[in-house]
Amino acid sequence: MRRLIEQHEIQQRVHALGTEISDLYRGKDLTVIGALTGCMLFMADLVRAIDVPHRIGVVQASSYRGATTQPGELTVELGLLPDIRGRDVLILDDIFDTGNTMEKLVTALQRREPASVRTVALLVKEGKSEVELKPDFFGFKIPDAFVVGYGLDYDDDYRHLPFIEALDEADL
Ligand code: IMP
Ligand code: MG
Repeated sequence: MRRLIEQHEIQQRVHALGTEISDLYRGKDLTVIGALTGCMLFMADLVRAIDVPHRIGVVQASSYRGATTQPGELTVELGLLPDIRGRDVLILDDIFDTGNTMEKLVTALQRREPASVRTVALLVKEGKSEVELKPDFFGFKIPDAFVVGYGLDYDDDYRHLPFIEALDEADL
């Protein structure tokens, strides 16, 4: 495994994002909606860096990967979604790769008639997007590698790491 982003770099960037997001949503009815399970570490840090009152909630977006790095069929589960009608929603995910997950989440949440929907991803993989949508906020652009840590998994391992590492072919 190769270290790509150190813990202190993540913390600095997440704080800067928190400030940017706070400025945009001051006086609004913000709800941050994280996509489980990868959102957990990023969301916990980001919401503490947002200094305007807001609600938090989660949805589950899974593209079954198992022990592969190829995305499988995408499903969105809204059972845990709080009421977002008329509220300003910020969808949060760990990584924007092809963008299909984020696009599907935006479409699903728009049906609940929020006042606005924006998106934030900690990481954006360069040159991989298959959709028109671009995240409104992101932490870091990274090259096309399979990464783990800070919420991101490989076959459900490594999510707890406080930094981001890239898996080499030999690790897969
Ligand atoms: P997308 O739909 O291709 O943008 O992929 C988004 C989802 O795939 C993310 O929510 C992650 O769960 C997962 N994913 C994409 N790339 C990686 C990676 O490099 N490491 C771990 N998970 C990834
Ligand atoms: Mg995942």
